[in-house]
Amino acid sequence: MVRKRNSPFVMISRRLSTVTVFIFIGLISSLFYNIIQIYISTIYHKNMGRVDSSSLSSPDKVITTNIKLTWAVDFAEKTIKGTAVLDIKTLEDSVTHLVLDTSNLTIHSVQDFETGQKLQFQLKETVKPYGQPLEIKLPLNTQKRGSVAQIAIEYVTSPDASALAWMAPEQTSGKKHPYLYSQCQPIHARSIMPCQDTPAVKVTYQANVTVPQELTALMSATRMGNELSPTDATQRVYKFEQNVPIPSYLFAVVVGALDSRQIGPRSSVWSEADIVEDAAMEFEDTEKMIAAAESIAGEYIWGHYDLLVLPPSFPFGGMENPCLTFVTPTLLAGDKSLANVIAHEIAHSWTGNFVTNLNWEHFWLNEGHTVYLERKIIAKLTDEKTRHFQAIGGWKDLINSVKTFGETHKFTQLIPPLEGSDPDDAFSSIPYEKGHTLLFYLETLVGGSEEMDGYLKHYVKKFAFKSITTDEWKDCFLSYFKNKVSADILDSIDWDAWFTKPGMPPVKPQYNTILADACTNLSDRWSKASEDDLKSFNSDDIADFSAMQKKEFLEQLLHKRATLPESHLLAMDENYQFSASKNSEIKFRWLKLQINSKHEPAIEPALDFVSRQGRMKFVRPLYRALYAFDKSKDKAVNNFKEQRKFMHPISSNMVAKDLHLD
Ligand code: BES
Ligand code: ZN
Repeated sequence: MVRKRNSPFVMISRRLSTVTVFIFIGLISSLFYNIIQIYISTIYHKNMGRVDSSSLSSPDKVITTNIKLTWAVDFAEKTIKGTAVLDIKTLEDSVTHLVLDTSNLTIHSVQDFETGQKLQFQLKETVKPYGQPLEIKLPLNTQKRGSVAQIAIEYVTSPDASALAWMAPEQTSGKKHPYLYSQCQPIHARSIMPCQDTPAVKVTYQANVTVPQELTALMSATRMGNELSPTDATQRVYKFEQNVPIPSYLFAVVVGALDSRQIGPRSSVWSEADIVEDAAMEFEDTEKMIAAAESIAGEYIWGHYDLLVLPPSFPFGGMENPCLTFVTPTLLAGDKSLANVIAHEIAHSWTGNFVTNLNWEHFWLNEGHTVYLERKIIAKLTDEKTRHFQAIGGWKDLINSVKTFGETHKFTQLIPPLEGSDPDDAFSSIPYEKGHTLLFYLETLVGGSEEMDGYLKHYVKKFAFKSITTDEWKDCFLSYFKNKVSADILDSIDWDAWFTKPGMPPVKPQYNTILADACTNLSDRWSKASEDDLKSFNSDDIADFSAMQKKEFLEQLLHKRATLPESHLLAMDENYQFSASKNSEIKFRWLKLQINSKHEPAIEPALDFVSRQGRMKFVRPLYRALYAFDKSKDKAVNNFKEQRKFMHPISSNMVAKDLHLD
């Protein structure tokens, strides 16, 4: 058979159509690629100009996947000298520079870790309050999408690093050894290492930390042993590994004369020797709490869960550093009555550390969910009415925060706009309690607490290892309940009012008041009491009150009748002995009530309280109250000026603003 030859015309048109197909495929795929790029950038840029307006790094162009730290802690200089090797991955084509966050760092050198090639770098102008961007020229072969590199940065921290509290031996209980601890949340990690200091990026880490040989170093990671330094017998090298990817704000370090006690199968408590026994007793329910949390939210994935009780200057109640929660010694009430803070930090192992807010505007995802889970853990250990009682207290904290900011202030929104603001300034009970209120309200809509447990497990599983926005959370919530709850109910939720309206939430849930009723009755009696009525009070009034009911009684009084006459205060103390209370929550409210009431004898005890411990939740409102009372205004300012060198830089910064000093 003779094959018919194709004419040149047919050949050309065939070749043309092949070319057309190729061009077509090319066009389609580039269109597709562009659509994906646009989609990614709209996800990132949904609510703001950048992924995270609190970071000067650009996580949409390059991401860090691992950090290897080699640190030498120098107590004499108050510095950490070190190297950070960042594993990076380029996300776009033609990315010429890597930009990292730094604050008060001195950068000695930057190089490509594999080739040793020196890389050009520039520390840019400071952008307050975010620090100085460190711009590093990427090696040519790292500028393409999908390429990876290891960038080694040699640097030293400043004695003023905002994350670090350096304490002289006299400031510790043992008085013999110095002490160092860090607090990185929200944007202080950049003062201890150059990094993408945004919760949008998660990394694993390893660290070798060299410290004076008689001291112990711990980090938010698994301990991998220690040895005397091979080059200097006065020093010891501690090794750590964190194999779960974490955001920068969860990096943490402590160095001091630390002792420990095992308190559970996966838990030890660490502190200076004098309080370690008390701490072990106070926190003995830790394992029960972890187990309760696992039954609600799923498996605990971090291996061990240790607690560190810090010196009194620690600015928070607790900080959920992975594997090693940091807590204030003001939790040591002697009767486990403040252990809800431990439940809270345990809860962060799921909500916050596992599923993380993409940036600080969505902070309520961390804290609102954590408060909600905290109260569920407490309910498992006690009962449902206690959960409701805690929520009633939370509602008052919310009222206080709305009052402090003003009800139209943008920081009272569940999702506050933070562009240009310092996230430390936006910090308050709002994300905690407005967030909890929203979740509790949703619980009432979907059929109850158990329905929410199913949702929480689903939520944690779906977003494990990720950083997310409120929209992603909302979509997840709605799709989970779509077939379980009627559309009318889900449609009735006014999301916009919850997310973006300032002030108190649009709905106040009905809580069970059975534990609060006794507090309400007693605070009613006191708030209406005349001089003659004072005889009707006696110590039996509160004989059956738990510590938390005493706190609630005082809190209600602060709301109902912000000031009391001196005669009332004296009678109250005689009957209820509040001045002698060891419980910091009771002590704080008792002092605040007296200072608000312009009770002069309380000035010295209040100054003493704000000097002995640095928990901002207590120190800031008390300093503000002292400042507002003409008899104590100057004393407060002078006391602060004396004390600020002993305070954590974060607290001293905030109190300085409260006292209109900086
Ligand atoms: N993660 C927070 C502490 C924090 C928040 C530090 C933002 C820096 C910036 C911690 O989990 C927390 O919420 N602590 C509370 C505990 C309380 C709500 C039970 C605290 O410190 O009082
Ligand atoms: Zn928290």
